[in-house]
Parts: sequence; C-alpha cells; structure tokens
Amino acid sequence: MEKILVEKSPPLKGNVRISGAKNAALPLLAASLLGTEDIILEDVPKLKDVELMCEVLASLGSRVEYLEDDIIKINSANVNKYETSYELMSKMRASFLVMGPLLTRLGKTKNSLPGGCAIGTRPIDLHLKGFRALGAVIETNHGNIGAYADKLIGDKIYLDFPSVGATENIMMAAVMAEGETILDNAAMEPEITDLANFLNKLGGDIKGAGTSTIRIKGVKKLGGCRHAIIPDRIEAGTFMVAAAITNGDIIVDNVISNHIKPVIAKLREAGCTVIENGDSVRVIGSENLKAIDIKTLPYPGFPTDMQAQFMVLMTLLDGTSVAIETVFENRFMHVDELKRMGADIKIDARSAIVTGVKALTGAPVKASDLRAGAALVLAGLVADGVTEIENIHHIDRGYDGIEAKFSKLGARIYRKTY
Ligand code: EPU
Repeated sequence: MEKILVEKSPPLKGNVRISGAKNAALPLLAASLLGTEDIILEDVPKLKDVELMCEVLASLGSRVEYLEDDIIKINSANVNKYETSYELMSKMRASFLVMGPLLTRLGKTKNSLPGGCAIGTRPIDLHLKGFRALGAVIETNHGNIGAYADKLIGDKIYLDFPSVGATENIMMAAVMAEGETILDNAAMEPEITDLANFLNKLGGDIKGAGTSTIRIKGVKKLGGCRHAIIPDRIEAGTFMVAAAITNGDIIVDNVISNHIKPVIAKLREAGCTVIENGDSVRVIGSENLKAIDIKTLPYPGFPTDMQAQFMVLMTLLDGTSVAIETVFENRFMHVDELKRMGADIKIDARSAIVTGVKALTGAPVKASDLRAGAALVLAGLVADGVTEIENIHHIDRGYDGIEAKFSKLGARIYRKTY
C-alpha cells in the first residue's frame, strides 16, 4: 500500500508549472476515436485516468503511442470494436465518454453502466436523452447500456441541467450526424470549448461552444490534427490555495486566468494578493485572512472541483465561512477527515458551516475522492505534526507529479510504500 505523508511545511515559495487539464484530456482522447488520420495531443497530463482512457482506446482498435512524456499520437483509422470491457469501464466513470463517438462512428456502442461514486449517484439520463433525440435506440440489460442507430439525425436538444459530460457526449455524437443539432442549456466549461476546438480541427463544424447554445452541423468524416490541451484550472487553483494557507508566495505558470476568475475573486476576498500576469498568476498569502462564503455552480460559477480545497482554507480563516455545494449531492466526504484534524465544520443539507480554528493537527486520514485527497494534502501542509493520507490512488487519478511539484515549492511531502 502507498501513502502520502505531509509534514507541517514552511510558507511555500517559487514557481509551479501547471499540466494539461485532466477533464479536457479525457474527452479529447475519447473524441480521438472519431478521427481517421493521425492525431497528436500535446500537454497530456501523466495521470492514472489518462492511462486508463488510452487502454480503453487501444481495446477498441486505436493505436496509441507516446512520442514524448506529454505528447501522444493516436490513430483510430481501424477502430472496429463497439464494446468496452466491464473491467476498464468500472475503473473510471469518464470512460463512458466513448459512447458518443462510437455511436456516430460505428452506429452502435455497448458499455457497462457506470456505478455510483463517492460524490453522488451521478446518473447519465441527460447523455441518453441526447442520444435518443438524435435517433438512437437505447437498451439496458445485465448492467450494460447499448445505443444503436443506423443513422443519426440532428435535432434540438435542451439539457435540464448543463451537465459537462452530457454536453461532451452529445456534441461528439452530433458531429457526424446528418443535419444540424442545437444543444441548449449546454455546459460552458473551458473543457467544452477545448473539445469543440479539437473537433473543429479534425474537420467538424461546431459553433457557440463556451456559451449555453452550441450549434453542431454534421460532417461526413473527421481527419487528424495536432492540438495542445488547455491548462488544468483545478490544479492551478489547488496550488493557489496552498499559497494562501501557508502564507506563501507562489507563481503558478501555464494558466488561463480567465478560467479561474471565481478562485481569484474568492482568494482576494479572503485577503490574499493575487497578481495576474500573462499566463501566470502569483498568489501571496497574508497573516490576516478573513471568512468567505462560496457556492458551487456550473461554469462560470465557483467550481465544485475546488470546494474541498477551499474548505481547508476556510478552516483557517478568522470567523465563520459557509460553503454551499449545488452541483453534486454528496460532495462533503472530506469533512469528517478534516474534523479528525481539528476542523470545526457542521453540515446542514448542502451547506457546510466552517468556523475558523487556531490550528489543525496531523492525523491518519483517507482520501475519498480526487479533490478530497487534494484537500487533505493541503491540510497536511499547515497541520502540526504528520498527516498520513491513505487511498492515494484517488489523488494519482488527477494530479500529475503532486509530490514533486509541492516539494519544489518547499513542502515536506513524501510517498511511502508499506
Ligand atoms: N447529472 C445528471 N444527469 C446526467 C449527467 C449529470 O443528473 O445525465 C448531474 C450529476 O449527477 C451531477 C451534475 O449533473 O449532480 C453535474 O454532473 P456533470 O455531468 O456536469 O459532471 P461530469 O461530466 O460527470 C465533470 C468532471 C468532474 C466535475 C464535473 C462538474 C470530467 C471527467 N469530470 O463530471 O470532475 O466535477 O464535471 O464540473 O470532466 C474531478 O475532476 O474531480 C471531477 C469530479
């Protein structure tokens, strides 16, 4: 078993380069199933989830090869399998994103239904609503879900909630459907825009990504391209919080500051100095930070993927802060672990009421999901003594070289095998 050990660390200082975004890399890899020529993806983060998605692609007939540490070449000219294995699907929810591409490329796809996960039930009804609107027949049996269509035909689709995954899956299915698809109340996350830009480079015709209405004109065939993945706004935000809580001074390089406006605004509101400079953001902490409230919302609102990390900040602020989680139904699993480290947090339905404490103390804790794991690393940086984090496979799913990056900033963080 591996654990991450974090000791109370001095104020973190220096530069950190942010990797390509996990949540852009995964849909882009899935979309690579649509291209019939070479696709080269740059700035691919080194993550367990990326490795798994590459395995899924290879199992479907794509050729996937690393040209460099962070550059992948994919050729999907010979994709001929439409079923993914339960074993691969059950390891990563996002593998469900191959459904849209396979449906439009091969006219059929069959996958095991993704199960629940630590942050909520996470249904896929909106993905399926989109596929049905395009003319697919959906069949569920023995834990599998199949989608079948001789021909997909564009339609008007309204999403009841701006789901990121549903927007991506429907966009990928519609890109080669006949006629035009208009997707309303679409998710507006930067990762959606990155996917649309990528599909357009392959030869797609998508307009409006990044707004709530996306228009997709179906094309007959997609080719190849070279594309650099956008920087990970959540990894950036995590390091920015590290600067705030350790009273440090960190320059986060390779960020698009427009993508992290709510994080910047809330850190400033708490009393940090945040300086935006081209593709870097510098965060300088302060001894006198004050309570803030956050409410998670779809983009451009405050990201749910930063809620756990901000909760660590809130435990150290002067006064009482409130975090309201509106995107996922059960994303407070980190709270009990933070309480074991001395945090004062009360949960009332979808709100967490956090009263600032003088100090946290290190303890053995467990990561319940990726962002909860990142929050525990942050808490360990400021807690007296040693914090021993278990279940770190969750952290490896989404943070590329977390110990190396934190160590370079002066953090006392180690990985130990037991
Ligand atoms: N939802 C439905 N029906 C659907 C789809 C979603 O009710 O068909 C609900 C979900 O249950 C949830 C809400 O809509 O309550 C938001 O889900 P969404 O579909 O937007 O999320 P996702 O596509 O499953 C992506 C990220 C998550 C991130 C969310 C929200 C990827 C691979 N994952 O998930 O990232 O939290 O968007 O921004 O892109 C993470 O990186 O730690 C992570 C969980």
